[in-house]
This record gives sequence, structure tokens and C-alpha cells, in this order.
Amino acid sequence: MRSHQLCSTWRDELSKWAIPESIIETSKQLPWKLSPKKFAPTEARKTSLTATRISEFIHQNSEGGINTILDVGCGAGGLSICFADDIQCFIGVDESEEMLAAFRANWATENLESKNLRTIIGNWPDVAPLAGQADLAICANVLFNVADPCEFITALDRAAKRAVFIEVHENHPHHVANPVWKHFWGLDRPDSPTARDLVAIIESLGISPQSERFFRDPEGPREVDDELVFSIGQRACINPGDFDRLRDFLIENPIRRPEYRLIWWKK
Ligand SMILES: C[S@@+](CC[C@H](N)C(=O)[O-])C[C@H]1O[C@@H](n2cnc3c(N)ncnc32)[C@H](O)[C@@H]1O
Repeated sequence: MRSHQLCSTWRDELSKWAIPESIIETSKQLPWKLSPKKFAPTEARKTSLTATRISEFIHQNSEGGINTILDVGCGAGGLSICFADDIQCFIGVDESEEMLAAFRANWATENLESKNLRTIIGNWPDVAPLAGQADLAICANVLFNVADPCEFITALDRAAKRAVFIEVHENHPHHVANPVWKHFWGLDRPDSPTARDLVAIIESLGISPQSERFFRDPEGPREVDDELVFSIGQRACINPGDFDRLRDFLIENPIRRPEYRLIWWKK
């Protein structure tokens, strides 16, 4: 019952992130559009706390054999590919065919043809029966897109034989753009839900997870380059004609690098 209440609060709070229709209509930006390039494998990803903890788990349990990883909301494979040296079989689930195509392309670029990659298009948990079970279930940067985390996490837990690893932003991934929304649109954007709420939801499901907060990149303000202006401009529905004004605003009001949280449990 408690989990039902917590998930219902999560859903209500998430719905407050909807962007007013009037702004969507006038904006030339698509704020929720994700680019596969942003989720390609990177060095920062390989040395992140999430990749480190998963690698430790794989090596500590090498005798029993960790052979399969199920990556839910795998995107372009940026997290899975970190474990390509140690794992033989990968199952990538994503609702976006564009992301799965990028995953397969990155797989080929990394010369991983000798390994087994199965991609499944569809919404988790609907496609959970198609995916079956894996030794590890991993899921990074997806939960703030999920209206019902109870169903989603229960299916993730069932799909994992040995452990589940979930990486999320500490605050909603668009939270960094809140001051921009206030300045350019006069709108107060939400501060919740947070990763702490997710931990409470997982605990309410009878699971005792470990959780650690971390920065993937060095802590501190982000450099104001074209990429940052584009990414914040997109999130805050700023038309490209106003990007110079946005750049000035970001120089005067630096954006901090996002904090992440790794939540994980053994089976
Ligand atoms: C922000 S990206 C993260 C990609 C990857 N996990 C990473 O960290 O690099 C989120 C991905 O989850 C996918 N996604 C979101 N909700 C999903 C769901 N319920 N079922 C399957 N895929 C989902 C999106 O299509 C997108 O590719």
C-alpha cells in the first residue's frame, strides 16, 4: 500500500514537469528529444562510479559466472559497452529504434561482433517477457521518464538473477535549466521528485538497496560552450534566435554539473 502511495506521488510530481502547451506551440525546440550521440560510450562513463561498482561486482562474482547483462532503456549502449571485455551476452531494451540502431552501430565501431547483442524494441515492463532473465539488470538515466516506478522496478528485479544496478540523476535531468525557465519565461519549475524518493519507493517494495551519490565529471560549474547553450536552450524551449542572450545569462549564472546516484542491490 505504501509503495502504491509513493508511486502515485512520484507520478503526480513528474506530471508537473509537463511544459505548457502554449510554450511548446511557439517554441522551435523539442525539449524532450534525446540525441543518441549524447549516450554514446565515453571515457567519463567508463570511470564513473556506476561502471566501477558493476565491474567490481562482475569480478568479485567471476566464479559463479556473470555472463549476461540486461540493459533497460539502453539508449546507444553507453553503459553496457563499458563491460564488453568481461561479459559475453547483452540484451538491450529501448522504446526508441533510433537509439537501438545507434547501440548496434557503436557495437560495430568497438569491434564487438564476437559478442552476443540482442536488441528488443519496446516499452519496459511490457516487453519484459521477451527479454527473459539475465545475471545483471542495469538501467541508467531512465527512471525520471517512468510514471510508474513500482511496476518498472518490480519487473527489473524479477529479470535479474544476481543484482540490479540503477543510475539516476539526483534531481530531474532538466532541473539544471530551472533558473533559465524563470528568467526567460517567468516560470517556476519543480524541485521534485528526487532520487531520494526513488530509494524510498524501492525500500517500500521490500528491497534494501545500497545507494551512493557521485559526480560523473569533475564537480563545479560547466564551461559555457555551444553544446551547453544548445542543450539548455533545447530543455528550456529557447528559440535559437535568443541563444546569444542565453549564453550571456549562463556566463553570469553558471550551471553546476549534475549529481548522480547509483542504487543497487544483490539478489
Ligand atoms: C536518457 S536515455 C539513457 C540511455 C542509456 N541508459 C544511458 O545511460 O546512456 C533514456 C533511454 O531510455 C529509453 N526509455 C525511457 N523509458 C523507457 C521505457 N519505459 N522502456 C524502454 N525504454 C525506455 C529512452 O528511449 C532512451 O533511449
